[in-house]
Amino acid sequence: MSEAAPNSPSPYIDTTRPHPARMYDWFLGGKDNYPVDEEMGRKVLAIEPNVPVLAQMNREFMRRATGWLAAQGVRQFLDIGTGIPTSPNLHQVAQGVAPDARIVYCDNDPIVLAHAEALLRSHPEGSVDYVQADVRDSAAIVERASRSLDFSKPVALSLIALLHFVGDRTGPDGEAGAHEVVSGLVDLLAPGSYLVLSHVTADFQPEKAEQVGSLYQAGTASLHPRPRAEFAKFFTGLEFVEPGIVSEGEWRPELGEPIPGEEGIVKAGYSAVARKP
Ligand SMILES: C[S@@+](CC[C@H](N)C(=O)[O-])C[C@H]1O[C@@H](n2cnc3c(N)ncnc32)[C@H](O)[C@@H]1O
Repeated sequence: MSEAAPNSPSPYIDTTRPHPARMYDWFLGGKDNYPVDEEMGRKVLAIEPNVPVLAQMNREFMRRATGWLAAQGVRQFLDIGTGIPTSPNLHQVAQGVAPDARIVYCDNDPIVLAHAEALLRSHPEGSVDYVQADVRDSAAIVERASRSLDFSKPVALSLIALLHFVGDRTGPDGEAGAHEVVSGLVDLLAPGSYLVLSHVTADFQPEKAEQVGSLYQAGTASLHPRPRAEFAKFFTGLEFVEPGIVSEGEWRPELGEPIPGEEGIVKAGYSAVARKP
């Protein structure tokens, strides 16, 4: 972890360089970000002014997918790459349908841990827990999540707008890449579990995606937009639920509300939900 700034609110929170979780919070109009995050956020907006709308549409995908899963009877949720609390959070959506739902959140950014108390306000019939970990530590995440989730029963595993921050394996001995990370996690899930993903792509606007990628690379984290076929590969061995792979706003629009400004927007990502047979 980088050294924290002298005026940092916590020794673990580095306010000297932008962080994806805090930039995303800024795009969503949140208050849990710092001037470095806003500065980088404004540079991104100069390239793609629709990022705040796209971020809202991504949150809407989370709400629709989570509500739908709870309505299907899913009672256990593992959400990795949770982000800074943004109302409604995933547990509020799940427990709004099923008050006894049990949720475990996970993120590797200490800013999320610092705000975890807002995530941990469970309905008394259910539970909410938080694990601070990197998604690549899948075995450790599942072990710690097992304090409140029963992995012999179905779990909805969501990695929403996370995997484009995880690169590919760089060689046979390299660190696990995004696809190995997901398949490793899915292997630990019981039949009847679900995988919920959204992911940035360069398929629709390659030049803009490259420019935004360079900005992230220089200032914060490497960004790995993936084409549709690479996104589809995350679901190997799983059965897509309708409507399969779609872009922002297209996943079961009847389950939610349109986001102001979404009409006619050029898309930037893919979303899908699939079931483990
Ligand atoms: C764009 S935000 C998405 C937040 C939320 N899932 C949503 O879609 O609204 C991405 C989140 O992934 C987290 N993240 C990035 N790399 C990660 C990693 N290797 N392990 C765990 N979390 C990570 C960031 O800290 C950030 O909170």
